[in-house]
Amino acid sequence: MARHGKVSVIGSGFYGTTTAQRLAEYDIFETVVLTDILEGKPEGVALDINQSRSIEGFETKIVGATTTADGQGYEAIADSDIVIITAGLPRKPGMTRMDLLAINAGIVGGVAKNVAKYAPNAVILVVSNPLDEMTALAQKASGFPKERVIGQAGVLDTARFTHFVAEATGAHVGDVRTLTLGSHGETMVPVPSVSTVNGKPIIDVLGKEKVDELVTRTRNGGAEIVELLKTGSAYYAPSAAVARMAKAVHEDSGATYPVCAWVDGEFGISGVYLGVEAKLGKGGIKQVVETPLTDDELAALKVAAEAVRTKQADVETL
Ligand code: LAC
Repeated sequence: MARHGKVSVIGSGFYGTTTAQRLAEYDIFETVVLTDILEGKPEGVALDINQSRSIEGFETKIVGATTTADGQGYEAIADSDIVIITAGLPRKPGMTRMDLLAINAGIVGGVAKNVAKYAPNAVILVVSNPLDEMTALAQKASGFPKERVIGQAGVLDTARFTHFVAEATGAHVGDVRTLTLGSHGETMVPVPSVSTVNGKPIIDVLGKEKVDELVTRTRNGGAEIVELLKTGSAYYAPSAAVARMAKAVHEDSGATYPVCAWVDGEFGISGVYLGVEAKLGKGGIKQVVETPLTDDELAALKVAAEAVRTKQADVETL
């Protein structure tokens, strides 16, 4: 398919810039827009990535634009097909994602309003933390239909689980299938029952104790990297995750990914943004997939739904 369309990335921190780079290197978009409130940063990064085009062999153009908190500069994202919101602060060592709630709510709410104004038909992909709450907030602030506002977390958490299982078994990552649902936080729900190595259930390959250990490490996967980096949080795997989601939307592929989506009756759960599997394409979520779960996994998903529901209600009052 010919290169076409426009995707905008809000926020030129490590997450935003690596995402813009990946999207550009796919060479499927006409334009990738990168913005930030830090004057000159997005323009500088855009120039740098543009200068890599002849070396890497892609034609997608990156446009950098400085924006202001009161919405100046947002004309640059006009009529984007997809907008990825990375704006907000990352965690510092010892912080939970929830510690970012109040500060990031102000930032993400403001961004979402500008997206609604300048790119009213876009699909919004949210990555700012705390993820499930910021996704709910972006939907509310933009006023977009719920299927057009999606959070990235499950693709990342699943990739972390897959990596840990591959390391523990010595298998190629390509031979490992895992899945995580639920929240991008304390109530994350890794799903061992559908997780396999070369088609064999991971419980049979590794035993329950080891699987439980890897599940815990997956749940703490973001914090482990924050502790090591000391400033900022992960961005290579996170940007890979959201870039693939953007690609699926752009190509209208219908591919199934674990994402933060509005759940409306699936799994007996309603009225909350939650990590579930869903088919992605033009227009955002095409369908939430009701992954077959064991009773324990379903119970854990319901616990996650209620935990996220409470916090999402808090966000409404901010
Ligand atoms: C992480 C952050 C980006 O999990 O939420 O690394």
